[in-house]
This record gives sequence, C-alpha cells and structure tokens, in this order.
Amino acid sequence: MPETSLFLLEVGLLDRIGTLLGQSGFDRCVVLTDHNVATAWRPSLQAGLAPLRQDWIVMPAGEEHKTLDHVRDLYGRMLELEADRQTPVLAFGGGVVGDLAGFAAATWLRGLPFFQVPTTLVAMIDSAHGGKTGVDLPEGKNLVGAWHPARAIWADPRTLRTLPRREWASGMVEAVKAALLASPELLERLEAFSRPPDPSRRQESESQELVFQSARIKRGIVARDPWESGERVLLNLGHTLGHALERAGNYSRFTHGEAVGLGLLAALRLAGRRGVLPDASDLRHRVESLLAAWDLPRAIPASFRWEVVAAGLKRDKKRLRGRLVFVLPTRLGRAEVFEVGEAEVRQVFEELQAAEGSPELG
Ligand SMILES: NC(=O)c1ccc[n+]([C@@H]2O[C@H](COP(=O)([O-])OP(=O)(O)OC[C@H]3O[C@@H](n4cnc5c(N)ncnc54)[C@H](O)[C@@H]3O)[C@@H](O)[C@H]2O)c1
Ligand SMILES: [Zn+2]
Repeated sequence: MPETSLFLLEVGLLDRIGTLLGQSGFDRCVVLTDHNVATAWRPSLQAGLAPLRQDWIVMPAGEEHKTLDHVRDLYGRMLELEADRQTPVLAFGGGVVGDLAGFAAATWLRGLPFFQVPTTLVAMIDSAHGGKTGVDLPEGKNLVGAWHPARAIWADPRTLRTLPRREWASGMVEAVKAALLASPELLERLEAFSRPPDPSRRQESESQELVFQSARIKRGIVARDPWESGERVLLNLGHTLGHALERAGNYSRFTHGEAVGLGLLAALRLAGRRGVLPDASDLRHRVESLLAAWDLPRAIPASFRWEVVAAGLKRDKKRLRGRLVFVLPTRLGRAEVFEVGEAEVRQVFEELQAAEGSPELG
C-alpha cells in the first residue's frame, strides 16, 4: 500500500472535482460530510460535482461521533443508495469524517474507491494522507481500523477560510510535529506564521505553502514505510500521551491537535531528562512559545488523574513487551523510538500539571 495517492492542493479545486471524478471513470459518488462543513461548503462542492449523481450523508460534527454506531448507520445508507464497487466515497471534512468515511469505504462490500477532500489543516497536512482509517471505541482511540488509501487527495485551501481559530491552532500542532521530525526550516516558517490568515490571496498562498511542506514530510515517510514497520512509527511523535489525554478528556476536553501539543511537550521533556536531545530546553521553549502564540494548552489540567491517563497509555498500539514506546526528538529534524518506563512518564505528566498554561475551561 505505498502512498501513491495523488495530492492536489489548489485554490478553487472544489469547482473541478466532478470533472476529476469523471476523468477517473465515475458517474456518481457518495459524499460523507459533517454539519459544519455542509453549512459552509456544501453548495460549492455540489456545484463542482455537477452533473454527476451525488448522494450526501451529513453526520454530526465531532470526535465523539467517530464510532462504530455511525459506521453502522453509513452501511445502512449505502444499502439504501445501492452503492456498489463503482461508487466512490468522498470524505469531505476533517480527520473525523476522513477516518470514518475511509473505514466505511474500506469495509463496505470489501472496499469502495475512496477520495479525500480535506477541509481542516489537520486533514490537509496529516490525516488525509497515508491510508489509515478507523474509529474509536470507548476503551481507546482508533482501536478499530483498516488501511485504505485514498485514490486522490483533493484539497482546496479556500475551505480554510471558515475554519475556526481553535481548529487552525490544532492543525499547527501537526505542522510543528512534522517540523520536529524533519525540517528545522519549517519550524522557522511556523514561528513567522503566528495568526490565522485573512482570506486574502497573499496569506492564502502562505498557508498553502505551509500545508504543502508539512504534508510532504508525512508523505515522504509513508512512501518509504507504508506499513509502519520502521520509520513511519516516528509520525507518532507526541501522539502516545496525546491519545491518552484525548481519551482522559472523553474526546471532548481537547481537540486532537491540542492533546498532541501537550504530547510534544512531554516528548521534549522526556528527551531532556534522558539526555538524548542536546539543548532540549531551548527546543522545548520554542515549541511552548509556538503553542502559546496559538493559545494552545501548555499544561495538563489539574483535574486529570494519572491513573486514567496511564490506563490509556497501556492501550497504546505501539506498546512492546509491557513497556511504553515513545518517539523522542534527538535533535531538531530527527527523532527515534525509545522504550520508556511508566514512572518516567508519570514524572513528566506531573511536571506538565504543574506547568503554566492550562486554560481550565468549564
Ligand atoms: N488517519 C490518520 O492518519 C490520522 C492522522 C491524524 C489525525 N487523525 C484523526 O483526525 C481527527 C482529527 O481531525 P480534525 O482535527 O480535522 O477534526 P474534525 O474532523 O473533528 O474537524 C474539526 C472541526 O472543524 C470543523 N470543520 C472542518 N472543516 C471546516 C471548515 N472548512 N470550516 C469550518 N469548520 C470546519 C468540523 O466540523 C469539526 O467541528 C482525529 O479523529 C484523529 O484521530 C487521523
Ligand atoms: Zn495527529
């Protein structure tokens, strides 16, 4: 399953998606989206898909809906719509819609053609690429899934005009992760880019460049290691603790990006404690400043209990022989995998609870 999916990133691309699907030999499609994306962008994509037959399925927005129950509903709709193996599924939205639609497309009739039309920064940079699809269980995130790469990823940066600032911030975290893994230059670019752009042309081209550079890092890693037998594990930087925090907050306290931001700070602290990252505190301060510029949390709320977070960590898919596995930066632009004891992670968790920067929301 090498990442050969075509990636097009172009202002105005929504208008051409019907033509592109037609060129791929399809005369109909099923579009899965959520309420927010439908409100803002359904008319544009609908016009862009004409004259293809299009059936729309609109789900409620939010991670709490990335569940098997919604997949079951989707199967019901596919049956009603008589979707067959010549019916492509388009995921039109963020990572939640992409993961869920991709999983339904992977499993319905053992696989329908799948296309991603990402509308969040997270999805454009990260989740739409690489073929991972799936849903959450109450016991943990992304525990059920399948590999089902999109045939193409069609991103229109125009859709980012309506993205709320909090979601922009979440996307920046995935870009920071990409920079830490592979590109000191991208980190500098992110430091220079500290506000959501106005929908002016100049800034749109700036955000387009940021998406392109960040996505290229993920796509390069996936192309070299599609099945996550080596290098691809590095993309989990910040995600081991991040996922456990998302779960501890019932998937509603933190966005994915917010939780991963805290995970990045934990990884930088662990790397510093172990002495595997020279100048760890400098890099940590740079990342803290970036998170602060986007009003992202830099501290774990005092109400979070270690026992709950630890239970989430123990469900991590990367766990080895009962030890936790963390990706840690070893210098800016490089990271490696380390086995880490629970006690060490707990210390860092407590440091992060005592740190500044936890907007304790209601
Ligand atoms: N498959 C992968 O490889 C992979 C990688 C990273 C993340 N993910 C998954 O992605 C999910 C997070 O994705 P996300 O951050 O995009 O979340 P999301 O899909 O929940 O979108 C965030 C919010 O923005 C809204 N929205 C989306 N596009 C909009 C637009 N253009 N204008 C206005 N509002 C818009 C959505 O309705 C939602 O409320 C998580 O479930 C995570 O596990 C998957
Ligand atoms: Zn992520």
